[in-house]
Amino acid sequence: MASPFNIFGIGSRPKSYLGIDIGTLSIKIVELSAEDGRPKLENYAILTDYDLMAGNSAGDSGERTAKVFNGKAAIMIRRLFKEGSISAREGNMSVPIFSSFLTVIELPQMSESELVNAIQFEAKKYVPVPLESVVIDWSVIGENGAGGISVILVAIPKDLISEYSVIAKEAELKLLNIELETVSATRALIGNDTVPAVLIDMGARDTTISVVDGGHLRISHSIAASGEDLTRALASSLNIDWRRAEDLKKESGLKVMNGNKQITEVLTPLLNDIINASQNIIDLYFSKTKKKIEKIIIYGGASKMPGFGEYLSGRLKMDAIVGAPFGRVAYSEKLKPAIDEVGHELTIAVGLALKAIQ
Ligand SMILES: Nc1ncnc2c1ncn2[C@@H]1O[C@H](COP(=O)(O)OP(=O)(O)OP(=O)(O)O)[C@@H](O)[C@H]1O
Ligand SMILES: [Mg+2]
Repeated sequence: MASPFNIFGIGSRPKSYLGIDIGTLSIKIVELSAEDGRPKLENYAILTDYDLMAGNSAGDSGERTAKVFNGKAAIMIRRLFKEGSISAREGNMSVPIFSSFLTVIELPQMSESELVNAIQFEAKKYVPVPLESVVIDWSVIGENGAGGISVILVAIPKDLISEYSVIAKEAELKLLNIELETVSATRALIGNDTVPAVLIDMGARDTTISVVDGGHLRISHSIAASGEDLTRALASSLNIDWRRAEDLKKESGLKVMNGNKQITEVLTPLLNDIINASQNIIDLYFSKTKKKIEKIIIYGGASKMPGFGEYLSGRLKMDAIVGAPFGRVAYSEKLKPAIDEVGHELTIAVGLALKAIQ
C-alpha cells in the first residue's frame, strides 16, 4: 500500500521555523529558514488521513466531529516530525474562516491609543458573537483614500485557540502565533502584487473565497461546496465506490463532464454554488470600492483539478491561475519535481512559516 507520507528531509541546517496547516483530511508542515533574508525551504511533510474522509468507512454518515482532526492532530504532528526528520519545534498554526470572522472597517485618522479604543467599540458592532468568547486581532491596512484608514479586524473563538494550544503542547511545539488561514495564504501567494484578485481554496470540507487588494486580505468567506462533495456526487451518479470516484476526480477532474449529461447534472449545482458565491463577492467588492477584480488565484488540494481553472475562467470571465506559494522561497533543484507536484497544497503552511521567519 502506498505510504500516506510525502516527505523530504535533509541534514544539518540553520535555525528554522514551522508552518503547520491542519486541514480536514490532511496536515501539512513546511519548515523554512532565512539565509541572507531569503526564505529557504528546509523540509516539508504532508500526511493525509483517509480514515477521516466522511463516508469512506462503512456506516459513516459523513458527520464531522467537533474536534480538530478528530482529536488526532498532536499524534499525527509528532509522527510527521519523526518520519519527516523535521527538527524545528517553533512555529505558527492557522484556523479556518468558517469558525472565525473577518471584516475591514473604515475609521477616521486617529492616534494609536485612540485606535485601540475605537477597535473595541467597532468590534462590538461587527462581530456576531459575544466579544468575551473571541480573541480580536487587527492591523491597519493603510489610508482609504477618503481621508480615513482601513483596518482589518479578525475574531477567532477562544475555544479554538485553546484547542490549538493544547495540540501544540502535546506535539511539543512552541506555538508562536495563530492566524486565519486566508491571511497565511495571502502572505504566501500575493507578495508585492497589488492587483485586486479573488483567491479560491477548494478543500475537503468547504471552499473559501477571498478578495485581496493592495497585498491585503479584504473579504474572506466560506461556503459548504467542497472537493469531498464532488467526489461523493461522482460516486453516487456513477455508482462507484468513494476511492474510485476520488481517483477519477483527480485524473479527469471537471473534464468528466464532457459529453456526460448525468455527471454534468450532479456536478453543476455544486459548481454553481462556487461560481455564484465568487460572483457575489466580486460584485460586493466593486459596489464598496468601485474597484474591479482582475484575476482569480486558486490554491489548496483541488486547485490542480483538471479543468477547474478553465471552468472558473470561463464562468467568471477572467483569468484563473494556480497560485505559486514557493515563488519567493529558495529550494534545492532536487526538490523541484516535488514542489511542482504538491506545492499548491502547501500554500497555507508556507504562509505560516514565512510569518515565523520574518
Ligand atoms: N489533483 C487533484 N485533483 C482534484 N482534487 C484534488 C486533487 N488533489 C487533492 N484534491 C482534493 O482536494 C481536497 C483536499 O484538499 P486540501 O488538502 O486543501 O483539504 P484540507 O486542507 O484537508 O481540507 P479543508 O481545507 O477543507 O479543511 C480533497 O477533496 C481532494 O480530493
Ligand atoms: Mg485546507
